[in-house]
Amino acid sequence: MKQKPPLRIGEEISIKIEGLNHGGEGVGRYKGFTVFVPYAVPLDLVTARVISLQKNYARALLQSVSQPSYKRVSPLCQHFEKCGGCQLQHLNYAEQLKFKRDIVRNALQRIAHLDVPVLPTIGMEEPWHYRNKSQVPVGLVNNEVRIGFYEKRSHTIVDLKCCPIQHPRNDKVVNTVREALRKNKIPLYDEKKHTGIVRHIIARTSFSNAETLVVIVTNSRSLPYAEQLIQSLQENIPGLCGVVQNINTRRVNTIMGQENITLWGRSYLIESIADLKFHISPHSFFQVNPIQTGALYQKAKEYAGLTGSETVFDIYCGIGTIALYLARFSKKVIGVESVEAAVKDARQNAELNNTKNVEFFTGLAEEVVAKLIESGYQADVVIVDPPRKGCDQKLLSAMSEMQPDRIVYISCNPATLARDLKYLSEHGYESMEAQPIDMFPQTSHVETVVLMSRL
Ligand SMILES: C[S@@+](CC[C@H](N)C(=O)[O-])C[C@H]1O[C@@H](n2cnc3c(N)ncnc32)[C@H](O)[C@@H]1O
Repeated sequence: MKQKPPLRIGEEISIKIEGLNHGGEGVGRYKGFTVFVPYAVPLDLVTARVISLQKNYARALLQSVSQPSYKRVSPLCQHFEKCGGCQLQHLNYAEQLKFKRDIVRNALQRIAHLDVPVLPTIGMEEPWHYRNKSQVPVGLVNNEVRIGFYEKRSHTIVDLKCCPIQHPRNDKVVNTVREALRKNKIPLYDEKKHTGIVRHIIARTSFSNAETLVVIVTNSRSLPYAEQLIQSLQENIPGLCGVVQNINTRRVNTIMGQENITLWGRSYLIESIADLKFHISPHSFFQVNPIQTGALYQKAKEYAGLTGSETVFDIYCGIGTIALYLARFSKKVIGVESVEAAVKDARQNAELNNTKNVEFFTGLAEEVVAKLIESGYQADVVIVDPPRKGCDQKLLSAMSEMQPDRIVYISCNPATLARDLKYLSEHGYESMEAQPIDMFPQTSHVETVVLMSRL
């Protein structure tokens, strides 16, 4: 017989929080029924109002904390809870690291049925101001210029004055552009009417080189008062290396369009990881946390177990960072990436670092890798670093047919990581060890590197 949930929508309940779900929301049980309470911490006793009810669980909004947990800390950010970018600022950092290890362990056990050793999460010494890229929407709200973030579950923009996980220079860009837009009355994009001009601002700062690239995304080719905007940036942003206009006239949620116009300076940023230099253009992916990227690549190298005689595939290679990092310890590295601009950067990066034993191919990994194998390419070690949706099954199948000795899987999504490891474990590979790395402190996201060996 179907049991009736022991609570109603609108009811206020007192509940002890026992754990966190994979999104970092508090989880408790009310008369045996599971309740998710965002922004509650394990061992908090809270009052929460039920806002939705499903067959197996309810969701409730935190009203007050009657007995705070010892794991609770004060969030640094004034926008926390409104912005939605961070989910864990109220949880102490050591607990954040434990939570991330548990998320990885649970995903591997539940989805892949794998009992792999999961090492303690590699955390940051200073888990703030680590992000190198800020990407914010621009719009008019009640006739006021707003640049910041969308309020949760809405498209109303809230002004962002300061984001404590960003490099401070990126905040400075946002505040400078806001002032310049206000002062010069530059027309702003209206999402509903698809009118106006300035849509998004992107600031990218290099940690090693202390330079900043600003991209202004516009709904038209013209950008009135561009000179004034550039001048404000030059006056306020130390290390400004370039201002680029990106044209996106389509009525879509994708932030950037295809075309870039360099308005001032250069159209790329230079960043270093270890002793390598990387050229990053506006469309190219680069890890958002340069400090932890060093730790990630170091682990990938250790798992790759290179002796100098191996051919390595770096699949989903972006601007060739891992390929170039490993090229010094391998016979040859082959990179595969779908974004043309990133492959162009990768080839330039090979020249910049005087690396000859790398070759890059443009296209979808699921198509290109199979063709490379057909034409005789073979790998001893394969590194994959896919986006959140994980690897296409065609790619996994091609990889297992190629039979490299080791596969190093780098993932920013434990669920798709587990799904893909399950496939590979059914096709001749054993997962040896998983290393979570905290690339995204204060958020519920986690990066993981896994070593798989051929059986
Ligand atoms: C998580 S990033 C990793 C980049 C790189 N390994 C790094 O550490 O900077 C994923 C990359 O995969 C690329 N990508 C996404 N889907 C792809 C596909 N189907 N085939 C090839 N590359 C793809 C993206 O453009 C992005 O550069």
